[in-house]
Amino acid sequence: METLKKELEKLSEERLLSMIHLAHLPKHVAIIMDGNGRWAAQRHLPRIAGHREGILAVQEVVTAAREVGIEYLTLYAFSNENWNRPTMEVSQLMRLLGFYLKKELDSLMENKVRLVAIGQIDRLPKPVIRLLQTVEEKTRHNRGMTLVLALSYSGRADLINAVRRVVDAVQKKTILLKDLSEETFSDYLHTQAIPDPDLMIRTSGEIRISNFFLWQLAYTELYFTKTLWPDFRRKALLMALLDYQNRERRFGQVAPKKGVKPKVLHPENFHFRDQKRGV
Ligand code: FPP
Repeated sequence: METLKKELEKLSEERLLSMIHLAHLPKHVAIIMDGNGRWAAQRHLPRIAGHREGILAVQEVVTAAREVGIEYLTLYAFSNENWNRPTMEVSQLMRLLGFYLKKELDSLMENKVRLVAIGQIDRLPKPVIRLLQTVEEKTRHNRGMTLVLALSYSGRADLINAVRRVVDAVQKKTILLKDLSEETFSDYLHTQAIPDPDLMIRTSGEIRISNFFLWQLAYTELYFTKTLWPDFRRKALLMALLDYQNRERRFGQVAPKKGVKPKVLHPENFHFRDQKRGV
């Protein structure tokens, strides 16, 4: 697989793009953006420089995902655990988030991207909450792609919150306990109206979930890359999508799910077609 990755790396972005099967795209791609600090350390720069460069990667990946035709892109931008970082870094990250929201609104509108924020949003600084509300409201009707920002998010907190809401609903007799199923429980999570991710990418070489989507990742294909987040650009996303398209998704069954065709991932086995794209 590593050799193949090296082979794919040699190809141009346009070639990689033409190798992607539009009919078998993951509907929802979720990303744990990791490695900003290491990217900065490698250059003897302060950590904030890594986060700043990380914003450029965010912009490029959002544009590329929209271009390819991904319907939902979730970025794990700030975890509940991240509140424990030095105060200075937390406030710098919050400022960067505010900067991103202000700067990107026009581009989100232009590309018909709807922004949705999930997590314990009320813990964020008031100006950031207001900006999030403005961007969510303005992009509400965009149908090109949904960009989900997981902010002050924790998978376990999401589950506990859902359990509390279910208990409340049962007490108020809005639902009957016997009617609680995997589907109905999902409705109480922050990701209520968002399909489970088909592909989860984590950058920087760490191979763990870090309290991200614990319920939602049950059948997700996981892709780990050593690339640090600031270096994860369009080409890296295309390579992750090609890797995904080589997987056989069985959902616990014997035969692959209908319509999901595994292929052998080798450049020679791909057909290069002129495909019509969304943008
Ligand atoms: C992990 O790198 C990254 C974060 C905790 C924050 C991610 C934030 C951004 C990319 C910028 C803001 C995001 C948006 C959506 C505007 P790390 O600091 O843990 O890196 P390290 O593990 O190398 O120290």
